[in-house]
Amino acid sequence: MRHPVNLLRGLRFRLTLSYLLLFSALLVVIGLYFRHSLQVQTEGDVRAVLEEVWGEAKGYLRIENERPIWTADPEDPEDSHIVERLRYVILLTDSSGNILIDSPNYESIGIDSLSEIRRIMALREPEVHVRSDAAGRPYIIKAGVMLDDHGKRYFFAIGRSLAESQRTVDLFTADYFLSLLAIIPLTGLLGWALAGRAIQPVNELAQAAQKITGSNLSLQIPLRGAGDELDHLIESFNRMTTRLEDSFEQIRRFSTDVSHELRTPLTAIRGQLEVALFTAKTPEQYHDAMVNALEDVEQLSSIVRALLLLSQAESGQLVLQKTVLDLGQVAEDIVDQFQIPAEEKHVRLTARIEPGVVILADRTQIERLFSNLLSNAVKYTPQAGTVHVRVRRDERQNWGRIEIEDTGVGIPEENLPHIFDRFYRVRNAETNLIQGLGLGLSFVAWIVKAHGGQIGVTSTVGAGTRFTIRLPAEAPATQPVNEDHGATVERL
Ligand SMILES: Nc1ncnc2c1ncn2[C@@H]1O[C@H](COP(=O)(O)OP(=O)(O)OP(=O)(O)O)[C@@H](O)[C@H]1O
Ligand SMILES: [Mg+2]
Repeated sequence: MRHPVNLLRGLRFRLTLSYLLLFSALLVVIGLYFRHSLQVQTEGDVRAVLEEVWGEAKGYLRIENERPIWTADPEDPEDSHIVERLRYVILLTDSSGNILIDSPNYESIGIDSLSEIRRIMALREPEVHVRSDAAGRPYIIKAGVMLDDHGKRYFFAIGRSLAESQRTVDLFTADYFLSLLAIIPLTGLLGWALAGRAIQPVNELAQAAQKITGSNLSLQIPLRGAGDELDHLIESFNRMTTRLEDSFEQIRRFSTDVSHELRTPLTAIRGQLEVALFTAKTPEQYHDAMVNALEDVEQLSSIVRALLLLSQAESGQLVLQKTVLDLGQVAEDIVDQFQIPAEEKHVRLTARIEPGVVILADRTQIERLFSNLLSNAVKYTPQAGTVHVRVRRDERQNWGRIEIEDTGVGIPEENLPHIFDRFYRVRNAETNLIQGLGLGLSFVAWIVKAHGGQIGVTSTVGAGTRFTIRLPAEAPATQPVNEDHGATVERL
């Protein structure tokens, strides 16, 4: 089932939106920047013309006897043109504000007040400023002092229209921002398409994940080969399904094994009871049938007990109670306990123990480790054989090292990799009758793994087997361990 993604909250939409906002903001900033530059540029041009006109005015206008006189030659068309240009925006007054020359354009921006005239005449340099007429058309005005032949001071102002420059800027602004109205939606579409492409693998990943169920965990999502974060995600995802597949497989195998193991004693019990029901006549026969059935029930409960313990261990419910442990001490105790069964089988059980091999470990589990390995060694060693236990400090690190060596039947090379698996027993004539559930070594492997140690085994068929276990003095903090049987099986 696919959950519809809310469009407005979807990654694609959000990516597009942020891209669009960023892009639009950038375009607006660029536009404003160019608008400003254009304004400075065109205004600069007008200012240059104003300076020119100011210079010309000084050349063509003279004041004699308090009257302005244009010195241009009226016959010369060029001169008349210049004067025409000068008279476009002009004002000349005496220091009391009496107008000598003005132009309609100047009037439209307003004749300067007397106080303004006085202020400007008091300045050392002419002043340039921008003013607008009633219709809002801007003019740039240069105002200052003009002297007559006798050195008398007059107020003189001349200006140019900024309307043209303003129009250029306005035109640019309108064009630019109008085109943005078209560009931005196009960019949005492009962003949408790009975001879609970027998100595509994520959608594929989601679809692939939806196809995966308990029964087709082998499904792997193909890498895109881009080596990017998404590939990394896909890799992690694939690794996860592989791990899941492994544990599903383990569970499947386990249930098959368990049902298989339980079926044998159950069938036996059923057979015995049926036989007793139909054929037994005397109380002794009933008694025998019940004793036999009870033995099988006993075996059943020991299987269940062992399974329970193992599943607790592997699911991490069995927490190690670590204490400082003298490995030699533990070995000695267990070896003592196994002397009687060894003697019964006429197997010589010896031990060589280096004092002071101390590790941090769970005593119960280490005892269980020893007794499983010793019971195997004694069990699979025929009469007159020997079992030798060694505890010493490992040469390579400050670890504890346990060796349990027997002169027993040995394990064929091809079976070695499997002996730590649950319910695994080597099928051969010598051991068929004495074999147990095949759980002992898987438990040993779990204990070694839980303590961060290593276990190795070497064996020669007919000559004997040696198990070597190395345990760190200080167990790592990686608890609990709930993987497969888990020990690092190191071939020695
Ligand atoms: N010291 C040994 N010599 C020869 N074969 C061994 C030795 N230890 C283990 N094996 C083989 O490995 C198999 C697995 O051992 P494991 O201890 O797991 O099972 P088991 O002894 O058969 O049953 P359990 O320990 O559960 O009662 C044994 O069935 C046996 O065939
Ligand atoms: Mg065993």
